[in-house]
Amino acid sequence: MNQELETIKQNVIKCTKCDLCKTRTNAVPGKGNFQSDVIFVGEAPGRNEDKNGEPFIGVAGKKLSIALNEAGISRDEVYITNIVKCRPPNNRVPNTNERDTCKEYLKQEISIIKPKLICILGNTAFNSILGGSEITKFRGKVVRKNNLLYFLTIHPAATIYNQKLMDVLKKDIVKLFDLIKDLKNNKEVPIDIEYTS
Ligand code: URA
Ligand code: SF4
Repeated sequence: MNQELETIKQNVIKCTKCDLCKTRTNAVPGKGNFQSDVIFVGEAPGRNEDKNGEPFIGVAGKKLSIALNEAGISRDEVYITNIVKCRPPNNRVPNTNERDTCKEYLKQEISIIKPKLICILGNTAFNSILGGSEITKFRGKVVRKNNLLYFLTIHPAATIYNQKLMDVLKKDIVKLFDLIKDLKNNKEVPIDIEYTS
């Protein structure tokens, strides 16, 4: 484990910067390969994650693993984290204050890992990081903002009981790793959306 990431992890575990600390069982720091070419960013821990302190270990996590396997990638090759690190009560969407407060940890994770791409999973991450909405309209696209590259796709939870969306997720993840391969070979990848601010 990378020492700086270990420090973030310890800070997350004891964090009391927003009210979600009052209702959590365990904070859920990001997890995975600190040399990963990609960081996956979900919304917030759910019940299983809160219980165990690990991201994406429930049903949604299973879906993400299946999509990764489709691209020939195993979970431990990548780094997985969330917009907020503590479970919101009844899995409600984290509010603006909670997201803004917790965002500092994500910024730190990104600056240490320096991924080639940041994969945004679903609307909450899309909105929190890029101010976007309607992920189904923008999924599959590459965004550049402040010299960082983002890839947009749906949240794995959306694929539960929906095989069509599972096929969409698989297709997107395969595309994501094709893009990563190109980036590693210093090939230009097409930017679909450019943020100028
Ligand atoms: N959903 C998320 O967004 N994150 C998790 O860690 C688990 C489910
Ligand atoms: Fe801290 Fe984030 Fe948990 Fe809020 S959600 S207590 S900011 S780790």
